[in-house]
Amino acid sequence: MTTPHPDYIEYVEALKDEINALRKERNAVILAHNYQRDEVQEIADFCGDSLALSRQASKTTADVIVFCGVHFMAESAAILSPQKTVLLPVLEAGCPMADMIDAPRLREVKSRHPDAVVVTYVNSSAAVKAESDICCTSANAVKVVNSVDAKKVIFTPDKNLAHYVSRFSDKEIVPYEGFCPTHHLIFPDAVRRAKAEHPNALFIAHPECLPEVVDLADHVCSTSGMYEFVRKSAANEFIIGTEMGILYRLRKENPQKVFYLPARHILCPNMKMTTLDWLAQSLRYMRHKVEVPEDIRLKAKQALDRMLEVI
Ligand code: 13P
Ligand code: SF4
Repeated sequence: MTTPHPDYIEYVEALKDEINALRKERNAVILAHNYQRDEVQEIADFCGDSLALSRQASKTTADVIVFCGVHFMAESAAILSPQKTVLLPVLEAGCPMADMIDAPRLREVKSRHPDAVVVTYVNSSAAVKAESDICCTSANAVKVVNSVDAKKVIFTPDKNLAHYVSRFSDKEIVPYEGFCPTHHLIFPDAVRRAKAEHPNALFIAHPECLPEVVDLADHVCSTSGMYEFVRKSAANEFIIGTEMGILYRLRKENPQKVFYLPARHILCPNMKMTTLDWLAQSLRYMRHKVEVPEDIRLKAKQALDRMLEVI
């Protein structure tokens, strides 16, 4: 690895100083998803999975929430904390899976299954949440589906998470056809190869992976679940089946353990858009404000609140 130029190091230090000063001045909290760039995770007040970040957003006493993640995450914060200013440093940081469904398409699915309850993964727009009965994250999807008072569940938008949940539920699950392009970069053959190369390693998969990949896993969980699993495990080697941003904290918290990816890069380009530069600009110019129209917000909040009550 090449050593960065001294001018660059100085520039980065100046950016960090500015972010630290501005977060105090604005009474801001910086939340970062576990897939964010290392340096963004490092400067954040709180890093977590979607569930933990939703909880933080609903209970923070800060005036400003800067969300280092993708658009639906900032939107969820705006839904849960309407009195706060929610900023998304890069407005274009979206989630392709969330964009695979919209409210009219969900209404059409609902019209074909009028007896079903709608469970929507938080990776969705506010308008889709507003059309849903309850939300879930990868950490609580099984619990949420099993908690609903119906035999039939429309599960949107992730077909792989829907399939994973169906392994632990007697309910009839109608999956929507969405998926995460990043987790689809993990192929079963590549996992088999990694397992053959590292026979002592445990394979941990995110439930957004293909069912054939989940079949190969020793453990399946959300991103934060992976930190917990690795910390408690007696094993020393792990093959990681999710976006590679998670390696930063895994390596930091477990310096004696070794981590492998089943592919060279498992990367979500949207999660990587947020840099220290954009974060500093976000606090400097108070942009980009994420707001949700009140009628949609109230309906979407019901679905999120129901989820937060289940766990
Ligand atoms: P979790 O961090 O909740 O496991 O979510 C993964 C993800 O893909 C977020 O976009
Ligand atoms: Fe969306 Fe997948 Fe990126 Fe998460 S990792 S934001 S689900 S595209």
